[in-house]
Amino acid sequence: MAVQVQPLKKYFIFAFTLGFVGVAVSYDRPLPRKDVFVSLAEDIVDSASPHQVHICKVGEDKMRISWVTKSPTSSTVYYGTSPGIYENSATGNTSSYEYFLYKSGQIHDVVTHQLKPNTVYYYRCGSNSTREFSFKTPPAQLPIRFAVIGDLGQTGWTNSTLNHIAESSYDMLLLPGDLSYADTLQPLWDSFGLLVEPLASQRPWMVTEGNHEIEKIPFIHSQKFTAYNARWHMPFEESGSTSNLYYSFNVAGVHVIMLGSYTDFDPNSDQYKWLQGDLGKVDRAKTPWIVVLIHAPWYNSNTAHQGESESTDMKKYMEGLLYQARVDVVFAGHVHAYERFTRVYNEKADDCGPVHITIGDGGNREGLASKYIDPQPDISLFREASFGHGQLEVLNASHALWTWHRNDDDVQVVADLTWLTSHSSDPACEP
Ligand SMILES: *[C@@H]1O[C@H](CO)[C@@H](O)[C@H](O)[C@H]1NC(C)=O
Ligand SMILES: *[C@@H]1O[C@H](CO)[C@@H](O)[C@H](O)[C@H]1NC(C)=O
Ligand SMILES: *[C@@H]1O[C@H](CO)[C@@H](O)[C@H](O)[C@H]1NC(C)=O
Ligand SMILES: *[C@@H]1O[C@H](CO)[C@@H](O)[C@H](O)[C@H]1NC(C)=O
Ligand SMILES: [Fe+2]
Repeated sequence: MAVQVQPLKKYFIFAFTLGFVGVAVSYDRPLPRKDVFVSLAEDIVDSASPHQVHICKVGEDKMRISWVTKSPTSSTVYYGTSPGIYENSATGNTSSYEYFLYKSGQIHDVVTHQLKPNTVYYYRCGSNSTREFSFKTPPAQLPIRFAVIGDLGQTGWTNSTLNHIAESSYDMLLLPGDLSYADTLQPLWDSFGLLVEPLASQRPWMVTEGNHEIEKIPFIHSQKFTAYNARWHMPFEESGSTSNLYYSFNVAGVHVIMLGSYTDFDPNSDQYKWLQGDLGKVDRAKTPWIVVLIHAPWYNSNTAHQGESESTDMKKYMEGLLYQARVDVVFAGHVHAYERFTRVYNEKADDCGPVHITIGDGGNREGLASKYIDPQPDISLFREASFGHGQLEVLNASHALWTWHRNDDDVQVVADLTWLTSHSSDPACEP
């Protein structure tokens, strides 16, 4: 008896084949997911319980711990290298802010110090809490692994991306702007803090601002970046910057520069002068790699966000500085997709320019930017509108491995992989 393929089965085989071919070429996941609003867990609703705990690296051997409590409590962190035994403590500050009818909880800001590199510390926030957290300090020398993700938001896709990041053994997270997508609804900042706490309390999260951090409403709230600056205090003072909106730091053998796309960047601006000074101080023997983060991409062949001043003018003013300093990689967000360029300068492929990568595909509620300019420009090597995250594994002074991990439904797949070499290891481009 001959095997009969049912019409429905035939359809499935056809669809499967099409799907498979589709996957091989590109993988569009256009359906946005809704925000997952995270509320306080039952055991931390009392007014002294720390929550929204996150950390960032400060200077050579310090870590800032930030957390929120409902009512005023002590801003002291107890920490040590064994669970439950805290040989050290550090005390910091508390602040809060108001936004229209919203009043924030107490935001605690404490810097722990004299930390050893590549070491796990256990800690408690405040004297009344029994919640124990732990973090690992980054290594002092290469290798180091970064997780890189932009335009995160707090949807089901965000959660999927965060789950994938949790599976990698990353040392530090770099975020080129657009964190919570609270968009003036302040409780969404609290929800975002709760969503990221499991990861952000364990590894330093180094962020810079995007347009969604501005949150200015004419006549109602005239100040910009109120929630962002209050909640995500980055180590700008230590890098000689006068603004939380741009700063730099060294980690292992990498000098990381966080630029501000939504503050002044013209040649007379404080940011421009600070950047000039900062680049002038980089010692390539100590940090053979320079990595820069911005929010609005300077190179972008997606139809989204073309021609914005934060891209075109900022690039016009600052691209030369980065080029002369032989910056290795520039990460951007803003466009909700992934794109990797070759080394570029002044619109053209240039062996001494940085590789530009757009990694705005964290999973926020606005969904993907799936329309591209055709044909694909020669300088654009890989582009795809899917959610995912990136990992930069800097192995030594000359070699780094970059991988882009796409969210195939809820499974991560390495969809783009490339070796990067540093300019400091190339005599033709020596800084
Ligand atoms: C606390 O705040 C004051 C004033 O803003 C600042 O000078 C000081 O350095 C802060 N202390 C810590 C430990 O952050
Ligand atoms: C914290 O604990 C101390 C001593 O155990 C107590 O006096 C104080 O009232 C507590 N504070 C809060 C906010 O629970
Ligand atoms: C995020 O994903 C994890 C793992 O699948 C799941 O347990 C958790 O409930 C999700 N969180 C939210 C807020 O949806
Ligand atoms: C750096 O790492 C790359 C990739 O693993 C390797 O091929 C190269 O030999 C290393 N260079 C040094 C100086 O160790
Ligand atoms: Fe953006």
